[in-house]
Formats: sequence, C-alpha cells, structure tokens
Amino acid sequence: MFKRLFEPISIGSITLKNRIIMPAISTNLAPLGTISQRMIDYHVARAKGGAGLIIFQSGLPIILASDSTLNADISVEELKSLAEPVKAAGAKIGIQFVHTGAQGIADFAGKELVAPSPIPCRISNKIPRALTIKEIARLSRQFTNSAQRAKNAGFDLVEIHGAHGYLISEFLSGYSNKRKDSYGGTYENMARFPCEIISQIKSKLGQDFTVGIRINGDDFAPGGITIEDAKSVVPYLIEAGADYISVSAGAYGALKTTIPPMMEKRGVYTALAEKIKKIAKVPVVTAGRINNPELAEEILEKGLADIIAMGRALIADPELPNKTKQKDLQNIRKCIACNQGCIDRINKTILPGKDDGKDSYVTCLVNPRAGRETELLLKPAKVKKKVLIAGGGPAGMEAARIAAQRGHTVTLLEKSDKLGGQLNLAAKIPFKKEIQEEIDYLSYQLKRKKVDTVLGKKADIKTINKLSPDVIIIATGSIPIVPDTGNNTIKTATAWDVLGDKADTNNNILIVGGGSVGLETAYYLVCREKKVTIVEQLKNFAMDMGPISRFYLRERLNAMGVTLMKLTKFIKTSDQGAIVEKNGKKNFIPGINTIVWAVGTTSDKTLADELKGKYEFFTIGDADKPENALSAIEQAHRIALAI
Ligand SMILES: Cc1cc2nc3c(=O)[nH]c(=O)nc-3n(C[C@H](O)[C@H](O)[C@H](O)COP(=O)(O)O)c2cc1C
Ligand code: SF4
Repeated sequence: MFKRLFEPISIGSITLKNRIIMPAISTNLAPLGTISQRMIDYHVARAKGGAGLIIFQSGLPIILASDSTLNADISVEELKSLAEPVKAAGAKIGIQFVHTGAQGIADFAGKELVAPSPIPCRISNKIPRALTIKEIARLSRQFTNSAQRAKNAGFDLVEIHGAHGYLISEFLSGYSNKRKDSYGGTYENMARFPCEIISQIKSKLGQDFTVGIRINGDDFAPGGITIEDAKSVVPYLIEAGADYISVSAGAYGALKTTIPPMMEKRGVYTALAEKIKKIAKVPVVTAGRINNPELAEEILEKGLADIIAMGRALIADPELPNKTKQKDLQNIRKCIACNQGCIDRINKTILPGKDDGKDSYVTCLVNPRAGRETELLLKPAKVKKKVLIAGGGPAGMEAARIAAQRGHTVTLLEKSDKLGGQLNLAAKIPFKKEIQEEIDYLSYQLKRKKVDTVLGKKADIKTINKLSPDVIIIATGSIPIVPDTGNNTIKTATAWDVLGDKADTNNNILIVGGGSVGLETAYYLVCREKKVTIVEQLKNFAMDMGPISRFYLRERLNAMGVTLMKLTKFIKTSDQGAIVEKNGKKNFIPGINTIVWAVGTTSDKTLADELKGKYEFFTIGDADKPENALSAIEQAHRIALAI
C-alpha cells in the first residue's frame, strides 16, 4: 500500500524522499519582499508533515512590473531563514519565480503592464506594452540573479512559473504572443524566453543545480495554449536544461480554473500530465484536486505522472504524508475544494502582501491552524474541566475535538439523530458531496478523542443541570427566516426544508434570495426536474461565494435554464403566480406554485438566554452570528483553545 508514493525520485541532481510535493502557493503571510515568522512556520509545518519537497512562492523576481524598483527583493538572509528550517524538518525546498505579465497588477502601483505583445488581459481588458528584446534579456538576467540568491540561501531548486497565463505562459501562447521576431511565430521561438532563463541559470549556477518549469497543459481559454501546444514546447524546455515539467492548467478568463473547485472531479488535470509524460524524458508533476493518498498512488501506479503536487490537500492537513505512511488514513482531514479559506481570501487583496492581518492570508476552512501555526498552538489545558457542547454541527464538533484534545472531559449533545448540522444539507447538493468527508473526519475525531456524544438529546436547562458542566459551548446554530407570502394557498418551504427533503414542492418554484444558498438550492431542485426562478434584491448573485465557485455555479444554472432576476424584490403571491418588483415597477410571474425562502437565518439564542447568570458559557458559530463554516470552525477552534 502506497509503495509508489514513498519511492524516492531524482530530479536533476537532487533526490526527493517521496513523491508528494507542496506546489507553489501564494500565501500573503508576509508583505511582498519580506518573510515573516508565520510564513516560515506554515512552510515548516508542511515539511514536518512529511512532504518530499516544498516549493515556496516568493513573488521573486518581478511580480509587479518591468520596473525593477518594484522588485520583490527578499535578501539572502531572509531566504535562508525560511530554507534552513524547512530543510531541517526533512523536506527539500524549492522556490518559484514569477512575472505576472499582462495578468499583473502593475497598474495598481502606477506601473505599466508588459507582455510579449499588446494583447489585453482577458479579465481586466488592460492592454500591456510589448517587451523589447533588450527588456527580455534583462528579465532573463533578473530570473538568473534571483536563482543565484536562492542558491546562496540554500534552496535546492528553482521553478520557473511558465503557467497560468502569466508572462512566460504568454510567450508560449499563440493568443498572447503575436511577435514577429525571434520570440514568436514558431514553437521554438515562443519557448525561447523560458529556455534562455533555464540555460542562463544552469550556466551561471552550475549544470547540476536543479531547475524545473511549470507550464499549462491547457489554458482552457479561447485561443490559449492547448495540450498540442504544450507538447510542442516541452522538448525545447528539456533541451534547455529543465529537470522536471510541472503540468498545470487555467489562466485568467478560462473556462476551467487553475484551482479547481469541488464542481471539478478529483485529479482533473492529470490527463494533461499523462500526455506530457509520454513525450518528456524528465519527471512530470501533476496537480489539481488530488486530495487523498489513494488517488495519488493510483496516478503513480498507472504511470500517469511521476510526482504528485498536493497543494490544498497539504494546506488542509500538513500531516497527510506522515499519516499516509503510518496508514492512519481516517485521521487525514481532506481538502474539500471549497476555496473559501485559501484562494478566496488571497483574491480579496488588491496588492499582494497587503496584509491587513484579518482575511488576506491563506488559511483553510477545515484547518483553521493553516497560516496560524504559531498563533493557534494546541497546549494541554491547565485546569481540566467538564465541558458541555450544545450542538453537533461543524462548530460544535470542532470545539469538542480541540477541547478533548487539550484534556477536558467533553460531552456533546445533538438534538437530531445525526452529527454535521448544516454540513449535512450542503452535502446534499450533488457537486458538494465531498463535504461529507469533513463530517466523517470530525465524527471520527470525536470517537478518537473519547468525546461523549449523545444524539437525539437537546441541551436544555434540565439536562445541563443534571450534567453540571464547568463550562458550556453553545453551538445550536440558526433558524431560517420565513417571511410572509401574503397568500396562504401557495406552498412554501425554506431552502433548508428543500435540501433536507422535508419540503413538499410543486413543479414551478420561485426562490426568494440569490445568495449561495438560493443558487445551490436551485441547482438541487433543477436536478429534480423542477422549473426554477430566483429573485435577488441586490445587483449580483451569490456574492457570499468566492469568484471561482460562483463562476462554475452560474455557468451550470444558466445551462440548466434557471431564470435569475436581479435587483428584483418579491412582493407577494397570488393563486396564479408571484408578484415581484423591479425599479419600482411591479411584474407578475405566472405559474409559480411554490415559494422557497433563501433569505438568511437568525441565531438561535434560546439556550444562551436561559443560561445567562447561571453558567459560564460561550456562543459560537451561527448561534453567535450566522456566517459560514469557515468562520464558525475558526471561532470554535479559538474558543476551545481558550477554555
Ligand atoms: C491560495 C493559492 C495560491 C496559489 N498560488 C500559486 C502560485 O503562486 N503559483 C502557482 O504555480 N500555483 C499557485 N496555486 C496553484 C496550486 O499550486 C495548485 O496548482 C492548485 O491549487 C491545484 O492543486 P490542488 O488541488 O492540489 O490545490 C495556488 C493555489 C492556491 C490555493
Ligand atoms: S479552504 Fe477549502 S479549498 Fe482551501 S485548502 Fe481548505 S478545504 Fe481546501
């Protein structure tokens, strides 16, 4: 079992102890051009967890612009402060260099965007200036100088970021490279820039210094790189000295994203790596929703790739490699590809490194310690207490897990016959089934940590008095808001009733509320062959979702024929339909025969009100403030560390 995963592999002159690597992940754990202690701790945790190689995304040499005054200029000493502890923890350390090209954010800093040709970025529509040959040569030197600095700091390898639609990728793509000189026109010319960087680094730092490159197997964007293009440039990259090819996908404005959400299947981009592996004589890395060791092993076993990049899987559980080796598989906390704690937060920043300390750095919905490795230290409780947790949703379970781990005696009461709370509803949506993995993980942890879990038992004052706990954590969740339809002949239900299969709905449904719950419930209903219209008062739908998941969901709902009406207010129902209002004008939607409410929830404060002045208690999750699982689990984790 997992024989292939733990087989060493050589890339260039170095040998990785296993095939699991942490690919480059921008973290925003330090302002651009600096390294912070928590950035070090985050990387060291993944090295300690057993990954064979950690690739640090540095922002070097030139993330912002062609203007060198904006270079992210991390000193050798700072680089060392990260490389040394990662290596001491048993992993090899690599560093990725990127220039963001036309997809850059240089114009935010008042600098011009540069690219191979003046072709606008598909998202911003900003037109970059074409680089001159002299500037291309200068950039190659900057990559090489940065590589020198990394080598001096003890890095084992450098990776050139030639993927995801950034500058080097733009050279490799016929969409963005329209040059008529020696850098455009043929595959050899298009590959010239990365080839020059690789061969320059090799000749300056030594042929035995390991240099890899990450490329797209497919941009999945109109006119962008296809697998045939990728196959055509790979031989030139290898000829120039690339010691491995890391195959990724997606660019700005693509139909499939680099960081695939849970709507995509696991291992979604491995077929691209397989095609590159067939023609590459160096190791090939694959990434993209490989979130469990079984799939990773299968990919290696079938010879589809040589190395498995597990990005979010290692954010979610840095100990995944060690746990796999120890065959402690149930104990692995799986990435559910929600993107909420990681890329959605990173995407909120305008400038990389603009760290407001609150929500711009990488963390994880299922692992609040990610990015907070030192801050959220798990220490045994000084005074061991009898802790009662009221509610077995994600917040309650996380609080129970941590409190028990710290040595408290924990009882969890859940009024329903099932653990998981709202996660159970989310897991009903076909593309969110993997949420069940988080319910399973937390349920297993309660057993493992010997939490006395009682199902079908409501935490009321009588029960609490009997148990006489020292401290109570209230995680009783929230209650859906049910407005008045103005007509009681039409069927109504809440989105929760629908997802819980407790609603009796007719076939023509109006969902009131176009947040994520409304849109996901629409998806669920359309899968059951219902006709669905959604009204939303705001000008955008699902703004509580990250842009990647929102994009995928909107595409699906459009394809399924769901009618989405924005800036539209529900007024009332009549026997024949629903009356809504847009721009002060009333409209009638005929045929509506069921209303589904997705207008939010209110905290269930019943228990908190009852306990006031009688017990020490904390209220967490939706019971405190209805938000989402990301904030609920984090809050639960923090409270359980504090009691
Ligand atoms: C928060 C975040 C930041 C990322 N930053 C980078 C980056 O700077 N360079 C890069 O090549 N890939 C980056 N990626 C993409 C990952 O390396 C990886 O290819 C992607 O997440 C898919 O793999 P996974 O499903 O194992 O996470 C990033 C991904 C995430 C989630
Ligand atoms: S936040 Fe979601 S997608 Fe990101 S690592 Fe955690 S579970 Fe995975």
